[in-house]
Amino acid sequence: MSSFVVSPAQSLKGTIKVPGDKSISHRSIMLGSIANGVTQVSGFLEGEDALSTLKAFQDMGVKIEREGSNVTIHGVGMHGLKAPSSPLDLGNSGTSMRLMSGLLSAQSFDCELHGDESLSKRPMGRVIDPLSTMGAKIDSQDGKPPLVIEGGQKLSAIDYTLPVASAQIKSCLLLAGLYAQGTTSVTEGGITRDHTERMLRGFGYDVKTDNGRISLTGGGELTACDIEVPSDISSSAFFMVAGCIAKDSDITLEAVNINPTRTGVIDILKLMGGNITLCNERVSGGELVADIRVQSSNLKGINIPKNLVPLAIDEFPSLFIAASCAIGETVLTGARELRVKESDRIQVMADGLDILGIENEVLEDGIRIQGGEFSKPGSVIQSHHDHRISMSFAIASLRCEHEIQIEGVDNVQTSFPNFVELCTKIGMNISETS
Ligand code: S3P
Repeated sequence: MSSFVVSPAQSLKGTIKVPGDKSISHRSIMLGSIANGVTQVSGFLEGEDALSTLKAFQDMGVKIEREGSNVTIHGVGMHGLKAPSSPLDLGNSGTSMRLMSGLLSAQSFDCELHGDESLSKRPMGRVIDPLSTMGAKIDSQDGKPPLVIEGGQKLSAIDYTLPVASAQIKSCLLLAGLYAQGTTSVTEGGITRDHTERMLRGFGYDVKTDNGRISLTGGGELTACDIEVPSDISSSAFFMVAGCIAKDSDITLEAVNINPTRTGVIDILKLMGGNITLCNERVSGGELVADIRVQSSNLKGINIPKNLVPLAIDEFPSLFIAASCAIGETVLTGARELRVKESDRIQVMADGLDILGIENEVLEDGIRIQGGEFSKPGSVIQSHHDHRISMSFAIASLRCEHEIQIEGVDNVQTSFPNFVELCTKIGMNISETS
């Protein structure tokens, strides 16, 4: 089990480019595999989660070549996937398991989806239930992985209202809908990331969006296309918070995806007084990107608007660090989903903040954080094997008076393999020990 040892730094300077977006990387493999023709992907995230998806499709007979972040997918068409010879191991990746459940429910063959210890505890009933209504046959361990999917089922379209704001459920049903008889519609209460819809359109599939209702009709084909994966705003978020809380900072993050369904972290930090400027906005590969400049800021506590919660769902661990460095209280509610991420991110963050001496109160669906000082010496934080917890506390070190240690940081490899390198490049004092 590896640890980060991080000591305080005052000054952060430089320009960096964080790795490719995880959500888009997953989807590029899934859609590229079932398309007709060859899909070239650049900027692919070389993190364990996206590589789990890549390996799973190779195991289903798709020829996929990778040289670093350049990936070539030789699509096999809608019905060309082959039965894998053993269970598909999806590691830590909830996105792989939930999206692939939809796609694999419609194949002619049986398959099993496995995950690591953390993924094996995550709820899958949210995809199993609507997929079963469509005609899928899926066995689970009381709604948790491993999932055993029986092939050869004829799926019928569904008209489904999401019970929670989740792009994974939406995407799972849209992928199943590609194979279903009729028009599948998914209605979302709050906006969730729309990469699946965008990418399907990029592959030439007709997807309609009308007032939060997304529809597609089964039976079509996908045509291969080139995909340029932009930098992940979720990985960039650690550096946005770092830039805001460091005493003397001026950093630029290049070519970050600013898809409007993902920019809650920028809006929330700006509401807190974050000194963040977007420049050089452009469209790249069907997604909006910009360079983001972040400078030292005097943050203040806020009540986080509920409508921004789904737009920043993966960024709350780092936002809790921003809240800890703000003047006054920050209150988050309406974020119960944080409890079923790679860890219970409300409780695990609260435990870490307690260790650092930050006053907080855990709420059922959020947290209250009173801004203060990270003053306790000899702090050792447990990441609970959650990548975003590890990286958030690494950033907290910028305002610590003493060195801190974060234990169990191996999972940073799932989403941000060169995190330590980029931290070091802008002036942080971080090392990884095993
Ligand atoms: C993702 C959707 C979100 C997010 C996850 C990636 C996706 O999950 O937390 O990291 O790629 O669709 P939910 O759909 O469960 O909110």
